[in-house]
Amino acid sequence: MGEPYLTSKLQGFGTTIFAEMSALAVATKAINLGQGFPDTDGPDVVRQAALDAITDGRGNQYPPGPGVPELRVAVASHQHRFYGLEVDPDTQVLVTCGATEAVAAALLALLDTGDEAIAFEPYYDSYAACISMAGAVRRPVTLRPPDFALDVDALRAAVTPRTRLILLNSPHNPTGKVFDREELTAIAQVAQEHDLLVVADEVYEHLTFDGVEHIPVATLPGMWERTVTIGSAGKSFSFTGWKVGWATGPAPLVAAVRTAKQFLTYVASGPFQYAAAVGLALPDEYFVEFREDLQRKRDCLAAGLERVGFEVFRPQGTYFITADISSFGADDGMAFCRALPDRCGVVAIPNVVFYDDVDAGRPLVRFAFCKRMRVLEEAVDRLAGLRHEGSAP
Ligand SMILES: Cc1ncc(COP(=O)(O)O)c(C=O)c1O
Repeated sequence: MGEPYLTSKLQGFGTTIFAEMSALAVATKAINLGQGFPDTDGPDVVRQAALDAITDGRGNQYPPGPGVPELRVAVASHQHRFYGLEVDPDTQVLVTCGATEAVAAALLALLDTGDEAIAFEPYYDSYAACISMAGAVRRPVTLRPPDFALDVDALRAAVTPRTRLILLNSPHNPTGKVFDREELTAIAQVAQEHDLLVVADEVYEHLTFDGVEHIPVATLPGMWERTVTIGSAGKSFSFTGWKVGWATGPAPLVAAVRTAKQFLTYVASGPFQYAAAVGLALPDEYFVEFREDLQRKRDCLAAGLERVGFEVFRPQGTYFITADISSFGADDGMAFCRALPDRCGVVAIPNVVFYDDVDAGRPLVRFAFCKRMRVLEEAVDRLAGLRHEGSAP
């Protein structure tokens, strides 16, 4: 039975797994490698910029609907500095309440009732809910281990006369996959052949490892015109509670997203917008050190999980490692994650919640490594208990 008062559009989207697992982490005093937030704050200079803005009375009252000019200019300069894109801060940038609102506003603005949106599963949990709230239908295309490569035939097969857009997330949560140029070219071809829009969630744009390059799909020939690109200060500067995000794209697409956005939050995070502008202007060394620090953490957790006996799919980006539990004689990631805090004091997320094809996600679990090194080491020590326990639930 569904929830009695909830509209059919939101049936099945009850409490998220993150709430359940975080509550379990508190109840069992487990190390929470479930939710993706850093356990240390971002640069002092960015924090100080927020304090200064509050003290100076900048952003304490409603900021302009599209975002404060300082941040819109900073977003445009950032897109030029890192990707060579020419973005007009007045008409082609929209500041949002986190990337979450940018995704929601884009989907509500661009999808009509009955339209179809293609998304690559496993997918970030707000995608399915927002597509549904827009009255649209999702068409999953499954990314499969070990490398979660794009299946171009599956993408082509997912296109129908009702397809309106492709929702692309790269670097990809939860797999840590970064779409390469060949894959993006294939997606661009499909989009152009069928006149589809692309909503590109690139919140982990600065979090790629081993020299892997993040390529915004909007930089491919013919793609700027049809793409809304989304970024997040929470992810790029480790202040996830501030909820500053942005969307960039051609003026008519950004105008459409702005129309939906103004009736969601209208505006948000005034003083933090000024601080995000300071973050975006940080020198290149900040971004290099940030990714190197996270790469060390990825290496630490990946090696630890391998020692414990997981099959690890080494991520090229993001905060997350996906691992397979089959080597423990288990195949039900949900049961495994529900039992894990009691068994060894660690919380992980079952990837099955990110899939429509539940069989594809069943044995996979996700660990966040955006935590202090000693927290990761302690988590690995605790997980070592699994080796001695025999078969898992
Ligand atoms: C893929 C993806 N998109 C969007 C978001 C939301 O970003 P924000 O905190 O800026 O709303 C997240 C956060 O985890 C994410 O992983």
